[in-house]
Amino acid sequence: MEGNSRFSYRTLDELCKDIEAMNLFIPLSEDTQILAESIYVEGRKIPNRLCIHPMEGHDADPNGAPGELTFRRYTRYAQGGAGIIWIEATAVVPEGKAHPRQLWINEDSVKGFKTLVEVIKENSLNLRGQKQLPFVVLQLTHSGRQSCPEGVPFPIITHHSRILDVKDNLSPDYPIISDQELDKLQEKFIEASQMAYECGFDAVDIKACHGYLLHELLFSYTRENSKYGGSFENRTRFLREVIEKVKKIVPEIILTTRLNIYDGVPYPWGWGVKKDGSVKPDLSEPIALIKKLKELGVNIINIAVGNPYYNPHLERPYDHPIAGGYVPDEHPLKTISRNIRLTFEIASRIPQIRLIGTGFSWLRQFFPNVGAAMVKKRWISFLGVGRVALANPYFANELLSKGNLTKNICITCSSCSQMMKDGGPVGCVVHDSEIYGSLYRFWRLKNKNYLKTLAERCIQCFPPPCQEGCPARMDIPAFIRAFLEGDIKKSYQIMRKDNILPEICAYLCPSERLCEEKCTSRIIYREEVPIREIQKFVAEEARKRGYAKVSPGR
Ligand SMILES: Cc1cc2nc3c(=O)[nH]c(=O)nc-3n(C[C@H](O)[C@H](O)[C@H](O)COP(=O)(O)O)c2cc1C
Ligand code: SF4
Ligand code: SF4
Repeated sequence: MEGNSRFSYRTLDELCKDIEAMNLFIPLSEDTQILAESIYVEGRKIPNRLCIHPMEGHDADPNGAPGELTFRRYTRYAQGGAGIIWIEATAVVPEGKAHPRQLWINEDSVKGFKTLVEVIKENSLNLRGQKQLPFVVLQLTHSGRQSCPEGVPFPIITHHSRILDVKDNLSPDYPIISDQELDKLQEKFIEASQMAYECGFDAVDIKACHGYLLHELLFSYTRENSKYGGSFENRTRFLREVIEKVKKIVPEIILTTRLNIYDGVPYPWGWGVKKDGSVKPDLSEPIALIKKLKELGVNIINIAVGNPYYNPHLERPYDHPIAGGYVPDEHPLKTISRNIRLTFEIASRIPQIRLIGTGFSWLRQFFPNVGAAMVKKRWISFLGVGRVALANPYFANELLSKGNLTKNICITCSSCSQMMKDGGPVGCVVHDSEIYGSLYRFWRLKNKNYLKTLAERCIQCFPPPCQEGCPARMDIPAFIRAFLEGDIKKSYQIMRKDNILPEICAYLCPSERLCEEKCTSRIIYREEVPIREIQKFVAEEARKRGYAKVSPGR
């Protein structure tokens, strides 16, 4: 029972039995009414104890303003009735975006953010269909090591990490961000907070989690000769100073932070861990930091753990990993139990702080039973959910009116995370398939490894019926073979031998009625080899790499 397992519980009793058998730290409450209680924080009434966590959608307009799908997502969240709507990661500088279509607040896009707040406030309804005002937070970020503003990774790092540099393919002489650049970046967080206030947000979150820049600073133990590295004072300086300055310059806005309390990465490459080289938690530094933040006037902390690019199961246990992802060797209930114990430890050491709990979606229909028990015990003030809300944006009102949730429940299939990895817009593929089903398939085919898996279906027929179906008579099996061998140049040259414009043809040819219709793979696997997509991929790559020049002789 200790190893990995998929969700299989039909009743609360069954879940309870496993929790007891594994001796876990997971409280349960049959009665979830407490989640409907309102609460005052910094003079603001928050209508209930449900919080929608920030979830990147990658659907901003090119200038960083919320796009059509962004408005759709937050309108639905507003209608769904959660007490807190925490807007997803929003970059404060363009080079700090994790994706070309990530939200980015700036002078040009600020109007869009203002409209977003208005739309949320106009559409917010409680369980009786009456208007209510949710607490709306804007998460401000710099993606640091995960920066990818133009669709190609452009990491900005605070120090070298023996563990993360390997994953990110960074050489020992890769430059690190300087103190002067960090000083300037502080100003950008302040400007963004000012804009957020003018837009009508209730609060800003100075994001310090998930391996992004401000979190990486917290464990910059090995950053030398810098006021931002080495000692606890220095490593926490950026976050503390930004909060202090925003408090002074924009006193009206409420300040909060989404903060990693445990990384699950050994010291000195992770934070919230013992210094003995293990990944055992040690909350002494996170607790010291939260105490300092409390003194600076921060009253709400949104709990985060782990790094989604390195050990994603720590914060978002799943039944299925993304393609090529790992299956953790611990039971998801054990992961959840660890997170609850860490949250409990913080709540008992700093009882004045309002905590938002995290990582409950794996529990499916029973997440409210755990969350309600934690709220009753005052370990958290709010039950935060991410994937639950993506799967069912109306979950809050449904749960508060009936006491439980019975439809559109997240099954932790990781398809939303897969969309993020593939580079497309993000949504629930399972329960919002009208919008995200085709987007998911489209972006999957942009992923080279996935395309290769599908290309493996080609059985190299002789004579090849696909070639017969191709008006240009391209040697399709040969270019597929070269693609599978990883030789883009050769694959492209094979196409070009018979077709001078393979990229344009890949877009214009009705391949489903030509080569693909004749593909033998249809008989064997019930689906053709995606010839058109392979052709598109190879031709695009060839163009980017400079192999696609048309010579005057042809
Ligand atoms: C697709 C996706 C996007 C996410 N985007 C963000 C984000 O913008 N900011 C953030 O702090 N966390 C982000 N997260 C983490 C979630 O907020 C949440 O902490 C995590 O999914 C665990 O909660 P859950 O079990 O309720 O899903 C994201 C998670 C997923 C799956
Ligand atoms: S795609 Fe939907 S069901 Fe799957 S993990 Fe994401 S939110 Fe849950
Ligand atoms: S018909 Fe299909 S399986 Fe056969 S060679 Fe062509 S692409 Fe490959």
